[in-house]
Formats: sequence, C-alpha cells, structure tokens
Amino acid sequence: MPDILSRPFRFGSNSGQPITRRDGIAKVTGTAIFAADNMPDRLLHAVIVPAGIARGRVTHLDAEAAEAHPGVTHVITPQNRPPLQGDPSAKTMMFSFRIEVLQDDAVRYAGQPIAMVLGETLEAATEGAHLLSPRYDVEPARVRLDDSPSFAFDPAGFGLPADVEHGDVDAGHRAARWVVDATYETAAQYHNAMETHAIVAEWDGDRLTLDMPSQALAISCAAYAFYFGIPAGNVTLRSPYLGGGFGSKAFATGPQVLAILAARMTGRPVKLMLTRQQMFGPVGHRGATRQRLRLGADDRAALTVIDHEGLAETSSFDDFVEPAAGASQGLYAARALRSTHRAVRLDIGTPGPMRAPGEASGSAALECAMDEMAEQIGIDPLEFRLRNYAETEPGTGRPYSSKALRECYMQAAERFGWAGRPLKPGQMRDDNGLLVGWGMGTALFPCPMFAAEARATLRPDGTALVETSAADMGQGAWTALAQIAADSLGLPLEKLEFRSGHSGLPDAGVAGGSGHTATAGGALHAAGSDVIRQLGEIAAADPASPLYGSGNAGFVARDGRLYVADDDSRSEAFAEIIGRAGGAAITGNGTASRPPEDAERHAMSSHGAVFAEVKVDPDLYQMRVTRMVGAFAAGRIINPRLAESQLMGGMIWGISFALHEEARHDPRTGRIVNADFAGYHVPVNADVRGLEVITVHEDDPYVNALGIKGVGEIGITGAVGAIANAIWHATGKRIRRFPIRIEDLS
Ligand code: MOS
Repeated sequence: MPDILSRPFRFGSNSGQPITRRDGIAKVTGTAIFAADNMPDRLLHAVIVPAGIARGRVTHLDAEAAEAHPGVTHVITPQNRPPLQGDPSAKTMMFSFRIEVLQDDAVRYAGQPIAMVLGETLEAATEGAHLLSPRYDVEPARVRLDDSPSFAFDPAGFGLPADVEHGDVDAGHRAARWVVDATYETAAQYHNAMETHAIVAEWDGDRLTLDMPSQALAISCAAYAFYFGIPAGNVTLRSPYLGGGFGSKAFATGPQVLAILAARMTGRPVKLMLTRQQMFGPVGHRGATRQRLRLGADDRAALTVIDHEGLAETSSFDDFVEPAAGASQGLYAARALRSTHRAVRLDIGTPGPMRAPGEASGSAALECAMDEMAEQIGIDPLEFRLRNYAETEPGTGRPYSSKALRECYMQAAERFGWAGRPLKPGQMRDDNGLLVGWGMGTALFPCPMFAAEARATLRPDGTALVETSAADMGQGAWTALAQIAADSLGLPLEKLEFRSGHSGLPDAGVAGGSGHTATAGGALHAAGSDVIRQLGEIAAADPASPLYGSGNAGFVARDGRLYVADDDSRSEAFAEIIGRAGGAAITGNGTASRPPEDAERHAMSSHGAVFAEVKVDPDLYQMRVTRMVGAFAAGRIINPRLAESQLMGGMIWGISFALHEEARHDPRTGRIVNADFAGYHVPVNADVRGLEVITVHEDDPYVNALGIKGVGEIGITGAVGAIANAIWHATGKRIRRFPIRIEDLS
C-alpha cells in the first residue's frame, strides 16, 4: 500500500513534546507489576545452583540432603531432568544462543546452572540449593585472552561485513609520515539491569503462560515453543514492564528455560528470579577485548590508513563475539581501511549483545588512537577530525542519508568552550590545585530497522485503541510510540489507549539495535494512516459530509477531525463520520521495515560529538569527570526529554566504561570475584556531574517514513575516548586499558 507508506509523518500536538514517561509514576510508586511480582496460587519457587568452578565436571550433588529439607519439593539435576523437545545447543535463529539446561554434568563456566531446587518458599528452595554441596573434577580455567589460541571470526551475524579492506592498506602504511601503533584493552562488563532476569511460568495442558521481561516478545515465544515442542501460538508472554535490559533480555536464557521445564514437570506454576550474583554468567555480557590500532597520517594530517585488529573473548561452546573493529569502518575518511576480528575460546559464559555491542568498545579504542595521532602531529584533536571528515561513507563512497556531524562538533565545542584548550597536557589547574584536562571523541551508531506490525482501531466515540507488542524496558517506548500513534491518528494522547507488552498483540519486533522507535513507530504510523485513509474514503463518498467529493485532495487528521488537505475550511469530526456510516469502529493495520534497496543506496548512521572535562588529584590520582557535553544528530526526535535521557544515560555508561566497570576473574578458579554491586562498580549520582545533551535536528527522508534514526546506544560511543583523552590532557599519561584506575596514573 504505497499510499500509506508515503503519507508523510506530521508533527501533531504530540510528537516533539517533552512529555514524561507514562510508566514513570507506576514504576516509582510500586504499582507497576513486574514479572516477579506475580504470585499465582500453588506457586513453587525455583533457585538455580551455579557452578563454583569454571571448567570440569560435577561429580556429586547431595540431592538427598536437599530433598530431606521439609520445604523442598524437587531437586532437578542432569540425572532426572525431563527431556526437552528442542535441542538446547541448536542455533534456531540469528542471535540465538546455545543454552545451559542441565543437559550433562560438564561445567563450562563459573555460574553455569548445575541444578535447580524447587520449594514451597523461596527460603526453602535457597536452603535446599545450599545443601547440594557440589563436588567437582576440576580442570584449569582459561579466563584471560592469552589463555587460549585465537581464531578468525566473521561478524556477519551482526549485520557487519566480514573482515573489511578498502584501498591499499600497505601503501597507506608506507605513505604515513606520522604513525600511531597502540593496543587498547577493554574489560568484560555485565548488563546489571535493575531488574534481574525473572520468570513466572505456568502450563495448562500444552499451553504455556509466561510472565517474563522481554525485549523481543515474538522471538522469545518462538524460542520457548521450540524447546518445548509446541506451536508458538501456544505461548502467551506478558511483559508489561521491564527494569532495564540493555540487550540481555532479547533472547531465551538457560535459567528461564529450566523454570519452564520445572513448571511442566511439577504441574504447578514456578517462579525464578536470578540473584544479582547469578546475573554474572548465564545471561550474557560484553566480552573483554584487546584491540590494536595502527593509524598513519601524511604531512597535511590526512589519514593514510586506519588498521584496526580486534581480539575478543567468547565461550567454549558458542560464538557471540564483541565485534569491536567494526567501529572503524564507517567514520573517518582514510585512504585505506582495514578491520579484522579474532576471538578466543574461554571458560566463561557466552557474551551477548550489550548496549552498543562492538561500537562502544571499538570506538573507545579508535577515539583514543585518533587523539594520540593529533598529539603527534601537534594539531587540535577536533581540527584533526575535521580534516578527516567523511563526506561520503569511507570505503564505499555511498552518500549518507543525512549527516550533521559537523554541526555536532561545532555546537558541542562551542557549548563546552573547547576553543581555549592548550595543545599540551598538564597545563591546566583549578583553584584547588587539581589537574584539569579536556578531551573529545566522535560518536557513531548505525540506524537499523527491523520488522514490526501494529493495529489501530478508531472507536465510534472518537477515541482509539492502538496495539503492538512493543517492549518498554525503561527507555520510554510506551510513551514515544504512543506520541507517534496519536499523531498518525490525529488525536490528543489522552484519547489514545495504547496496549503493549503482550505476545498476543501484533509483533513489534525487537527493542534493540536502537531501532525500536523507528521500527515499531513506523508500524504504528502505517496503522494510523490506514485508519485515516479508510475514514477519508467514507467521508468523501458520503454526500452528507463536508468532505464529500474531496477524495483526490488527500486528508489531514488533527484533533479528532479530518480536514481536506490544504483547506482548513472543510473538516468533520471522526465521530460524526463514523456515526453516519453505521457506527462501526474502523481498524487499520500497519507494518514497517526498511526495503533492502533503500538500505543499499545510502549509508545510514547517527553521529555525535562528546567533549569531557576531568579533574585529577595530582597526589592521590583520584579522577572525576566534572563536565561533559554531547551533541547528537539522530534524525527526528519524537520526545526531546526521553531522547536526552537516553543520550545522557549513554554518556553515563561512557563514564562507567572509562572509569568503573570491570568483571574480574580469579585466574586460579575462573570465578568472577566481584559478582555483585559491592565489587562491580557502576557510577552513582556522585560520579555524574555537569552532563549536557544537545540534539541537532536532521531531516532525513531516506532512513524511514518518520525520519527517525534512534538514540538508544550512540551516547556511549565517543564518550569513553573523550574521557581517556581528557585524562591524558590533565596528566600527560596515555592509559590504554579500561577501566582506567588510580594505580594506572601513579
Ligand atoms: Mo541492545 S544491545 O541493541 O538491546
């Protein structure tokens, strides 16, 4: 239906408004019902037993002791676990994982589930889990990047091309007057959403009902249906609220499958909620990387080559890898460009997508290397980036659908006060004698679209029901998507009932890849447009309507009325049109995806520039980010408040990446020694000061009908390098391992 897809999206009274999150009050007052809040009758509580070693075999579990506990009802181990219909090691679809569901006695990483205990109370199940007292045959754990041989991998599964080479890389190296050859390391990070992975599973014959946070409801239903040998339509998944996801809640996980299995086995509803510690292993993480960057530049500070080699960890049994080197493929205009990826198999849980997977870690290294090159050449880091500004996509020469990066640089630099920055490090002190440094980085994130469906129903009373399964993990989808839907229907937000978070609704696809607002929003816009088109047909054919005979002119919907396009004198209220037509509600359907030929024709990315100020104590080496300004161009912004929150949250993650987050393994046991919030650091309010976000408007006619690029992940990119570069500028020290620690500066 090209007439629907080409209907331009108009700002109505809703889009563009900085309204607060519709779920906000429910969440902060405790009335929002999260998955684990569900307490069906006859509920059993499940607790998983995590492996205490990283590699080897379980030789003994004291199931008798656990079963003797009065509150324990079942102990599930590889010996008695009922079969699954679907193979847990199957790769059923892109981004699906081999899951650990007690299929054997092997231990492949510390934290892997090796048993599950069910009890009448959580306390009983927890106590039963302790009573199992596992014993092991232990083999030496491989947990560091040097502990195993590396192998080449192909990041095609992420939508990235395999190893990329454009231009003559050797010639680029030879032509370089200036050379940077530096290796950067990034730490393993764990998602640590506020809400840990939870599930309440209940069977009724071969129908399964799940309360479970999900970033991708249809994909999750399909996966669980596969494991249990039932049609996907037999699975009902309710996911109205999520306490964060960051990529970890888009896929089926082993613990959740075990809980469903336990419910089937016992004939009772089963609830499982992972503890914070249990989040470190079976539900994904951002894998550690080591990246070598070799840059060359000529006399005029033009890059002759960017040569980016990424090395990343993955598990011994699956293949997700942080595709860090991909970050160098689309940013700077180098004469030659190469990115390669290698991976190492370790005794760790399988990494997974974690907010800006690849882009966050890759851009951290690239932006530091760019700063090191600017230092060598002796020019301002921003000037260096401008000299290597890519007017078309590096390597391919494709035009950008839109690219307001130059405006981002200028606006953020102006706001930050970059112009006064001394070139040399160690030149600035504040009134308290602290070393002050300023650094910057470029932000980049692709703007993919997935596939989504939506339905809109205009009721005879002039209100509307809008339905799509969209997951709101806290980013504000329920709000921004409702704004889009309301404008497409020409209604104020309060006349709209927006249903989401249920698998029975039209499939909104995955809330990921920063593509959710564009994709689900596109489907909602198409559904609303379908309703308006039908309404227009009715009115144009009705002699009693002021719109009679105006069919060819097109219509505009606004404030519950249909107007003849470009003629405000002819309009009629929706309710009147429907009323005369017999009073039946009008339902419209919509889908959205990006046609491959559109994706071919243009390079599509969001861009941004981040400037950071740090202060470093010259005696104690304490580091603080004191100011950050980020300017981002991400197409059309539907809700400025929520977009700024997303971008600011991303920049805070940049602080976290640069200075705080790291999961540390004990190389002797292979266990993560800081698997909790005491030892695994994330920034708190006291770590975050003076953050400013600027959004630079772009009209992009190519990305999608709504012109939306997405803001979920780009905020992290650029920020990490900006902070590291600022620390160099304050201290003269190049720290190439993240997170940067006090001891690195001493
Ligand atoms: Mo994400 S890592 O696109 O949920």
